Amino acid sequence: MIQRLRRDRVFGRKLVIAMVGLPARGKSYIAQKLARYLGWLGHPTRVFNVGGYRRAQVGARQPASFFDPANEEGSAARDRAAREALDDTCAFLAGAGAVGIYDATNTTRARRANIAARTAALGYDLVFVESICDDPALIDRNVRATKLGSPDYVGVDEDEAIGDFRSRIELYARAYEPVGEGETEDALSFIKLIDLGRDVRLHRITGHLPGRIVYYLLNSHASHDDRRPIYLTRHGQSVYNLRERIGGDAPLTVRGEAYARALAEHFGRAPPNGAPVVWTSSLTRSIETARPLPWSSVVWRALDEIDAGICDGMTYDEIRRSMPDEYSARAADKFGYRYPRGESYVDVIERLEPVILELERQRSPVVVVAHNAVIRVLYGYFMDRAPEVCPSLDVPLHTLIELQPSVAGATERRHPLGPMLEQDRYG
Ligand code: F6P
Repeated sequence: MIQRLRRDRVFGRKLVIAMVGLPARGKSYIAQKLARYLGWLGHPTRVFNVGGYRRAQVGARQPASFFDPANEEGSAARDRAAREALDDTCAFLAGAGAVGIYDATNTTRARRANIAARTAALGYDLVFVESICDDPALIDRNVRATKLGSPDYVGVDEDEAIGDFRSRIELYARAYEPVGEGETEDALSFIKLIDLGRDVRLHRITGHLPGRIVYYLLNSHASHDDRRPIYLTRHGQSVYNLRERIGGDAPLTVRGEAYARALAEHFGRAPPNGAPVVWTSSLTRSIETARPLPWSSVVWRALDEIDAGICDGMTYDEIRRSMPDEYSARAADKFGYRYPRGESYVDVIERLEPVILELERQRSPVVVVAHNAVIRVLYGYFMDRAPEVCPSLDVPLHTLIELQPSVAGATERRHPLGPMLEQDRYG
């Protein structure tokens, strides 16, 4: 059942996304973010970084001259790394993979023609994503944010590393042929991101998945300056939590109200850098939890708890006794199971996609006050967890989760606040 659902979502087509661009244009960052997003949506995705293959084959430390297109030995070594990474991309797609992201410079028409021929022969779709940026300040920030910490420059003096990297960029620039300039590339599908997404150009982009990718790239910032925190919390304890009932629209208990106050006090002690955007679901317990916060909040229905359909308002025990088949079907496959006339976790992921896009777009801190299943799924996205594990992620009540997205992936801090509750067996 899940298998069918997920295959349907890629419409049976496998896709190669080939990055294009000079070094330090944020290609790897975009590739990693896309992989996380597509994986979260249920399309098994992996990034194949040619730099990694090159380092494994010839060692990390190479002088800038290694990257000179006139250097035959260097070019042969780089071609070998590129070939091997493309072989692995295709092998991944021949197996369980749905999307392979081929993360290389791919700056020449010859290199792209080879990728196009190879993927066409295997029946894979191909989209090039080119990152173009001529703004020296942006490039400089990029070099500092990523290259200084790269294995290529371990133990190298900062100025020396930056100088060397700039020479490398210049050498690549000599052979750079932007995608689609000239008739030979008219048949290719490509997305051009100019100045990290300030301008976006599309060519021959059709189909469901390429459309989603464009939608994501238009909204998510390709810049590394993703430094604003995202706070996730479930609502305070509700009357239904206390009675061990799922769903419903119950108000907070006295302890739940104490959590709402503790949350506001926490932000009083540790204010985020800049007034945050606060989002709640449309349910009473979520709105009541956000009420003591000193900022106004926006209600999103998409943040409502998983719809338990005909089981709404029951305890897990009642479901087990009165609907044993439903109970065991959910126990066997909590991710794919859909409550009769309700939702599954797969459905919740789909409905949260616009929320993720909006979270990506926000430049200020965001506080999300929602529910067990919803917070699990949002947390799973930021922490790069496979969608299938989301239903079992531990997201206790009365705990604020502070996420700090960064180039290397998000880090988290958990703040237990307000009254301690017993083991949160019933969410
Ligand atoms: O019990 C609280 C709750 O938010 C329910 O409303 C919801 O059905 C449940 O948690 C989701 O958790 P699980 O998927 O583990 O049943």
